[in-house]
Amino acid sequence: MGQEVELRGLKVEGELPAEVRGSFYRAVPDPAFPPMFDNDHTLSGDGMVSRLSFNGDGTADFIMKFVETARYKAEKAAGKALFGKYRNPFTDDASVQGVDRTVANTTPVWHAGRLLMAKEDGRPYRVDPKTLETLGSYDFGGALKSETMTAHVRIDADTGELFFYGYEADGQASTKVAYCVVAPDGTLKSEQWFDAPYCAMMHDFTISENYALFPIYPTTADLDRLKAGGEHWHHEPELDSWLGVMPRYGDVSEIKWFKGPKGCHSYHMMNAWEDADGMLHFDACLNNTNAFAFIREPSGIQMGPQDMKGALTRWTVDPKADGGEVVETIIGPPGIFR
Ligand SMILES: [Fe+2]
Repeated sequence: MGQEVELRGLKVEGELPAEVRGSFYRAVPDPAFPPMFDNDHTLSGDGMVSRLSFNGDGTADFIMKFVETARYKAEKAAGKALFGKYRNPFTDDASVQGVDRTVANTTPVWHAGRLLMAKEDGRPYRVDPKTLETLGSYDFGGALKSETMTAHVRIDADTGELFFYGYEADGQASTKVAYCVVAPDGTLKSEQWFDAPYCAMMHDFTISENYALFPIYPTTADLDRLKAGGEHWHHEPELDSWLGVMPRYGDVSEIKWFKGPKGCHSYHMMNAWEDADGMLHFDACLNNTNAFAFIREPSGIQMGPQDMKGALTRWTVDPKADGGEVVETIIGPPGIFR
């Protein structure tokens, strides 16, 4: 839409019960300016956050604002797009070299009384939960070393802790992954780095009662390709997938890697859990390739939607084993949980 909105006292059909009170937050990509590249992807759009609030007195309001990232501010000042291709800073205008280029457009994260707008290619931006004014890039009070934080964090409802990771934690196409645990009061209490088997798009992860699970699928980044102005991601059908498993309060040196099928990909996970025998089950919407054509096609994968196969898939591993291979079971229909 490209438009900020503030609507108070929405028209209500029927009655809103007084006990329906609270706010629903939504993130969408919404380019403030036409992109530099005609074929740029929707996912490059500036972050737009909205709040639908039920006020407990029979009224409801809706507001929607751009997340005023450094990128948004730079482009607003110039009156045009300055940042180039999706996740390729080497295609940016010279005037914005080194400027934070995340668009904070993926997920509103609510934890410890703070609202963070997150996208996996950068640190989140903190936003006022009532006014949606942008308060600035957020690094947990200077504690976070990683340059990135996933948009798909996990909050343990029992402990109130926030678990997250950041991949490409120290720069483009890096294998460094930061694994972080945040206390219920919002204090970053642990940040540990490890190396993924290769630089993969790590869109989501999950935790179980005792473990943190990091799936690695072969959609990969390459620094030389980026420097040549290419795409951030190519999918590599011949490369193995992996599941990294470590005790969720453990040390990253304890991480164990279990090999999965070649060429598969998943954007979103459902859950992970441990059974009475201590086996660990990881459930994800798994496909036989990357679901996005804008990633498949530059990779040389010509596959119509009819050839894409997927299913809700369970990978089972013994977390006490020294690695090995996942045992795969199909447990449901195709999907993506979006
Ligand atoms: Fe997602």
